[in-house]
Formats: sequence, structure tokens, C-alpha cells
Amino acid sequence: MIDNIKNYLKEVEEFNPKNPEELENFRIKFLGKKGILNDLFQKFKEVPNDTKKEFGQQINHLKQLVNDKINSLKDNYNFSKQPTSDTLDLTRPGYPFNLGTRHPISVVKNKIISIFKKIGFSVADGPEIEDDWHNFTALNMSEHHPARDMQDTFFIDKNPDLVLRTHTSSVQIRYMEKNEPPIRILSPGRVYRNEDISSRSHCMFHQIEGLYVDTNVSFADLKQTLQFFTSELFGKSEIRMRPSYFPFTEPSAEVDVYWGLETETDYRITKGTGWLEILGCGMIDPNVLKNVNINPEKYSGFAFGMGIERIVMLMYQIGDIRMFTENDIRMLKQFSTEY
Ligand code: DAH
Repeated sequence: MIDNIKNYLKEVEEFNPKNPEELENFRIKFLGKKGILNDLFQKFKEVPNDTKKEFGQQINHLKQLVNDKINSLKDNYNFSKQPTSDTLDLTRPGYPFNLGTRHPISVVKNKIISIFKKIGFSVADGPEIEDDWHNFTALNMSEHHPARDMQDTFFIDKNPDLVLRTHTSSVQIRYMEKNEPPIRILSPGRVYRNEDISSRSHCMFHQIEGLYVDTNVSFADLKQTLQFFTSELFGKSEIRMRPSYFPFTEPSAEVDVYWGLETETDYRITKGTGWLEILGCGMIDPNVLKNVNINPEKYSGFAFGMGIERIVMLMYQIGDIRMFTENDIRMLKQFSTEY
């Protein structure tokens, strides 16, 4: 019997659990209802009187040892306890933060904003659900104007018409209604059109627009500003302006940037011409200025607008516009080094 206890003492002394489960099993084995110590106390009643003393001392010694062992080991597994100077290792590297990545649309939008900030533009915001006046009529597109056909959209309500804005030009109107020239703003945001979804077009996309109104603003200022922009964003400053038509600008132009024809990709994306169309622009039509109570005799201005998806697709060679909204983390993670 005494030998049995000696073996138990040895076992307790050498016990070295690898995890909290092992420690708990150890506790049950010795201190549980049907555990070793209860068993020994039962047997204690039957031992002859002359060995009772020694036997009792040994059992108590074992019990004490088991309790001490459990208490000292419990500290190692008590995670809620504050670390003490023995367990706190300040030299250990920290756990990495699991940071997300910016969406490529935001990356390019921020780049464009920071370029124009350098020359005094600030950002203006407006609602995505617009009324007819701000989205069309004030921009010189009256009710039956054929230009409305190109921007078929989604009607939220009729009479008065509420639409999902087809372009961020509506923000120009809102801003000019409330502010006096000089005005220099950018309006980035989401826009909607009733378009068939394909690799090149979507019913929801992003635009960024610029508006500059002051005294003596000329077409040369517009060209210079856009040249600055393309050289900052693409590293290419050779641009050409092709005559075009927008109801809210006169004259109007489409701007192409000379991309080059060095690689096979250059051939593909420029369709063998070397030129890429990137935005629309023009001098603000005097009718638009009148609609927002700015005197066109005194002030003039220019505006330009571009689709952000198109620019991102060019910069990063993304072949399908639908990828931007599919939320595929494998695609989005590729932009983790961009800011
Ligand atoms: N709003 C035009 C569109 O969505 C783009 C545009 C062209 C905006 C010329 C402008 C501009 O401000 O001057 O197609």
C-alpha cells in the first residue's frame, strides 16, 4: 500500500501536461469522486491501527502535492490572467493586423483627386438619386432633347421625375447654384445607365468630373489643365482634342492621349492607332451658366468628365468591367500595394 502511494508521489512529481485537457484529466484522476485519493481514504479505514499514522501522513502528503501541482500548472493555462513579468515577453514580434486592400476604383479615384488638388481643385459631392432639373434640364437638355436618349436611366418616380443620375455633371449644377465663381471642383461618384451589361459596359459605374469657372477662362486653359493631368497620371502629355458634342458645353471635344505603339498590348488597346480616348470636355455653354444665375458675360469656364472604370482598365490591363463588382478577393488583393 505504502509502495503504491510512493509510486503516485513519483507520478505527480513528474507530471508535465502538454495542454489544459491533460491537466484536467490529471485532476479527475486524483481528486475526482472515484479518483485515487478518495479510493485511498476508503482503504485508510481498513488498515491496521499500527500503520494508520504513517499511511495517513502519506495520503495527506500526496493530496497536498497534487493540489500544489494543479495550482502551479493552472497559472500557465489561465489566459484571462494578466501576464506577469515572467510570462510577458516584450521582444516577441506582434501579431500581424489583417488589413484589407483598397478597391482599384478608389485607388485611381484618389490618384486623380490628388493630381487636381495640386492645382487648386477641391471635391464636391451630390446625391445619386437626382431630379430631372439637375440631371438634364439645367444642363441644357430639355425634355425632348435627343441627347437624353444616350443616357437612358432608371426612374425612381414620375411627375416630378426622380432618376438615378446618369452622370456626375448634376453636381456641377448643384455647386454653381450655391457658390459664386471662382469655382474649381471635382465631382467623383457612382452613376447609372440603362445599358446591357457586357465586358465593356455596366448599368452602374463611376465618373469623375471637373469644373472651372472664373473670369477669362479660355480653351487654352482647358488644354493645359488636361495635359498636366495626363502627364501626371499616365506619364504621357501628348494629347489631341477631337470636336464632339455635349449639350452642356460649346465647343465640345473628346480627348485622346498618345499611348504609344511599343508593345503588342499597346496595339490591342489602341486598336493599332496608338491613341486612346479618355475623356469628354468643353467650354461651359452660356445657357448652363444662366440656369444657375451666373452671368455668362462676365464669367466663362470649362468642364470635363471621364469614366473611372475605363481608366482603371487601361492602367492595370483589366479586361472585363464586371470584375469590379464581383467581389472576387483574388482580383482585389492584387491592388494591396496601391494606396
Ligand atoms: N457628362 C458626360 C457623360 O457622361 C461627360 C462629360 C463631357 C462631362 C463633357 C463634362 C463635359 O463635364 O464637359 O458622357
